[in-house]
Amino acid sequence: MHIQQKCECMEPEMQIQQKEFRKLLGNFVTGVTIITTHGFMNKPCGLTVNSFNSLSLDPPLILWSLSLKSTSKNIFLNCSNYVIHILSSEQIEIANSFAKKNSQCRFDNIRTKFSPSGTTMLDIEYKAWIDCKNYRQYIEGDHLIMIGKIQYYNYSNAEPLVFYNGDFYEKLSHI
Ligand SMILES: Cc1cc2nc3c(=O)[nH]c(=O)nc-3n(C[C@H](O)[C@H](O)[C@H](O)COP(=O)(O)O)c2cc1C
Repeated sequence: MHIQQKCECMEPEMQIQQKEFRKLLGNFVTGVTIITTHGFMNKPCGLTVNSFNSLSLDPPLILWSLSLKSTSKNIFLNCSNYVIHILSSEQIEIANSFAKKNSQCRFDNIRTKFSPSGTTMLDIEYKAWIDCKNYRQYIEGDHLIMIGKIQYYNYSNAEPLVFYNGDFYEKLSHI
């Protein structure tokens, strides 16, 4: 197989264009999550996230990043816990729905329940879910780095949903 190689060099003062940044990072295969919590009067809030990753074993920490432009920013900054749902290959529709601009209608056709810590989580099939304490947050660039401490979790043997090059894939072999 012939692999096309591209070598771009960044001068320190050069700005990478947004489109090129997305294209570059699109080379990295990730899973897909939906992260939920609730605000005042238990009003649910959530969004699709692929910046999720592991951070530390002792203590057990994970991280993800949230855009400073997110309409959910203040709720996530102030909540005590949030739940990370790692999606299965059959959940492209939910992933799209929780990435839509209008965050109000994301919960219209989906059942929710309370997680073990008492925050709002989705009542759906899952690849895995992790109920995290909202441990620390740092602003970096145009995002908040959210660090969560794992408190409760569960996982299944479902196939994972995959995100690569700006698209969802049900199977790695389809990439
Ligand atoms: C595959 C995928 C991954 C995403 N990952 C993130 C992410 O890591 N962080 C983030 O802030 N938004 C991410 N988004 C965008 C959000 O899902 C959402 O569209 C955006 O935050 C606007 O909604 P909000 O105002 O409720 O935050 C992602 C969208 C998609 C489709």
